[in-house]
Amino acid sequence: MHTQVGIVGGGPAGMALSHLLHLQGIDSVVLELRSREDVETAVRAGVLENGTAELLRETGVGERMDREGAVHHGIELRFGGRGHRIDMTELTGGRTITVYGQHEVVKDLYRTRLEAGGQIVFEAAAIGLRDLDTSTPKIRFRRGAELDLDAGAIRFHGDTEEEELTCDFVAGCDGFFGVSRPSMPADIRREYVRTYPFGWFGILVEGPPSSEELIYTLHERGFSLVSTRSPEIQRLYFQCDPNDDVANWPDDRIWEELQTRLATQDGWTLQEGNIFQKDIVGMRSFVTEPMQHGRLFLAGDAAHIVPPTGAKGMNLAIADIRVLSRALTEFYSTGQTGLLDAYSETCLRRVWNAQRFSWWMTSMLHRFHDGDDYQYRLQQAELDYVTSSRAAATSLAENYVGLPMEATTGVPAAG
Ligand code: DHB
Repeated sequence: MHTQVGIVGGGPAGMALSHLLHLQGIDSVVLELRSREDVETAVRAGVLENGTAELLRETGVGERMDREGAVHHGIELRFGGRGHRIDMTELTGGRTITVYGQHEVVKDLYRTRLEAGGQIVFEAAAIGLRDLDTSTPKIRFRRGAELDLDAGAIRFHGDTEEEELTCDFVAGCDGFFGVSRPSMPADIRREYVRTYPFGWFGILVEGPPSSEELIYTLHERGFSLVSTRSPEIQRLYFQCDPNDDVANWPDDRIWEELQTRLATQDGWTLQEGNIFQKDIVGMRSFVTEPMQHGRLFLAGDAAHIVPPTGAKGMNLAIADIRVLSRALTEFYSTGQTGLLDAYSETCLRRVWNAQRFSWWMTSMLHRFHDGDDYQYRLQQAELDYVTSSRAAATSLAENYVGLPMEATTGVPAAG
């Protein structure tokens, strides 16, 4: 099997790359470990930066997002029992965010690619990469894969054999646990990690929204977040012990915790509903440098992870892809490698910017129980500043809606 760009991983990064390359007449094959159904139903964050939504719209995959997604113009920061609105649109000269689930974006990309004859091999496990420093790198993979989440292992059904995909370039879009990053030589890799002493307990709720905009709250008992998926489905989170078990949290206990953390003095009420899913996610910050080696280019979670506060994960993945697709387009149309050579450096500027913002939002809004009261008072002072100074609110707003591509990468957004 042969293609121009072999893409390991069919999440948002891999699928956006396949789509953008196709628009430039460049062939790709996507290998995705999970089944189409598994990817499409995975629950992930749902906030698209202004530039991410625009890219989807401009490249013809924004139609359902525009119909079903919700455009938001602000968020609320709540602390001390009071809410404070940050008017994103006014502070950023008209920019907005769109609340639309990450899996919905991936669904739209699958449909668009498959209708255009694109090749996506589902249930295909990439086993290893080789010849990365030649002009014909190869991806070894095996079909019939199944991810056993409980055992954390991959199993194969049917008597499939190992196959090889030969390509001009490999895009490693296979997430934190994929084979791509470990395929980079250890002696050139440098990794930066921060873990946080808490996780997020997430629930999906059938019921009406409690608020038109997202609410990020700091309370003495910890962080919580009121988000949404649709007028009928709500998404809420609260800070928890990362090693806690959802079995310890019957519905009543969850509602009591959320009611306590979100209570205000002005009569706002949290709408309860039927909880139909519960999950716990850990929080970490991670960056690997460089993001390229020979003909291998890492993008998205394979290269960097942010804690969820601020919802930068998918937006950052799409920003990587914008840079990579442009660099590959330059290579295939002119034979030049200038943009490819600069890929890692170009991406890392925006990556570190988003790292800083996500770390800052996380640090401001969570209770560090191993921290001291002094730190908690500082967090309250920071929230007070952000919600009362126009300069500070503008800084939050421009990062939240997403800094323009050229401000963080030097690469203009268009094209
Ligand atoms: C959601 C997740 C986030 O991390 C965030 O900052 C806002 C919203 C969500 O899942 O809706």
